[in-house]
Amino acid sequence: MFVHELCGPWMKHPFWRNRFLLSTEQDLDRLRSTQIEYLWIDGSKGLSAPDSEPVQAIVEAPAAEAPPAPEAPKTTPLLQELERAAHICARAGLVLQSMFSDVRLGRPVERDSADRLVQQMHASIKRNPHALISLARIKTADNYTYLHSMAVCALMMALAQRMQMSEEEVRLAGLAGLLHDVGKCRIPLHILNKPGALTPEEWLTMQDHSRLGAQLLRPMDVPDLVLQACLQHHEKMDGSGYPGKLKGTQIHPLSRMTAICDIYDAVTSDRPYKKGWPPAQALQRMAQWCGDHLDKVIFEQFVQTVGIYPVGSLVRLSNEQLAVVIDATSNSLLTPKVRVFYCAQTRQPLSPAELELHQSEIRIISREDPENWGLGPLNSLWQP
Ligand SMILES: [Fe+2]
Repeated sequence: MFVHELCGPWMKHPFWRNRFLLSTEQDLDRLRSTQIEYLWIDGSKGLSAPDSEPVQAIVEAPAAEAPPAPEAPKTTPLLQELERAAHICARAGLVLQSMFSDVRLGRPVERDSADRLVQQMHASIKRNPHALISLARIKTADNYTYLHSMAVCALMMALAQRMQMSEEEVRLAGLAGLLHDVGKCRIPLHILNKPGALTPEEWLTMQDHSRLGAQLLRPMDVPDLVLQACLQHHEKMDGSGYPGKLKGTQIHPLSRMTAICDIYDAVTSDRPYKKGWPPAQALQRMAQWCGDHLDKVIFEQFVQTVGIYPVGSLVRLSNEQLAVVIDATSNSLLTPKVRVFYCAQTRQPLSPAELELHQSEIRIISREDPENWGLGPLNSLWQP
């Protein structure tokens, strides 16, 4: 196999390079004896990982009626879809705000407007999944809860599409994402919006949102699997989650998907009390939670969905320039489209230029943290 990156400090392994063709048993043994727990392999330059066990379908249907796997969708260029996605985000914010305040007042969720929103978002995800999921990552303090729900909805649909689920299942996954945190409407605002650590009592109150969400939706016209995702999205594979301390397959696959999308969006979002992790770093850290907390098979699919260099990631190139990933829809996850804008050697800005890495000799050599370079927000480099 071709090792694209050993994830961990270089001090923890005996190899002098971080990227190489692993071709001998001896090297494999040396690799196994290190403290490196995760690495990325490049299937285009060597063997791929053996097929993982498939995840069971989220809606059980007789095999004869199972829809054929959809063809690989033709994607719209990111820049083009970003404009449409921005309108969808703006509308979604308003729809979700009124939906959450309805629920807060004890009114039922308007299924029609939720379904319409899911349909519009689904259409955008089909055109180019990276537009909506990249935009939904940007949040301000006052709209966090709504935009988090929208972001999880977008991620869920992109993931379900990646897992070749039927159109109906993709929309069901979207609805689960949209409503998974609806129970937070019943959490006192001083706890929900508290900037900083919660006391143990406040934490217990906060944890109750998953049970409350399912309870709120039960009398409403909402599919059972969506109720279950509300109830189970904080369960962990090793049984250390809440509220039911469920383990492994006791947690429904749709809920395991929700857990991954929920965590990814939470850790990559800026909050008043903490800066979000860069997307690529978030994936690397989440990889370490697989097995104990997250479903490994679904997480692998999730990485394929957002790309190992998601849109907005800062990367250093082999020609000593810094660039931002502006489209991750290319053939290989390792060769996204980037916008070059900074010289790493002189630490001077360059006039921005786009570069298709899959058509170039230039490679990504590392992910970088914008803060280490004294660079401000990079959003203007990938947004229209
Ligand atoms: Fe939650």
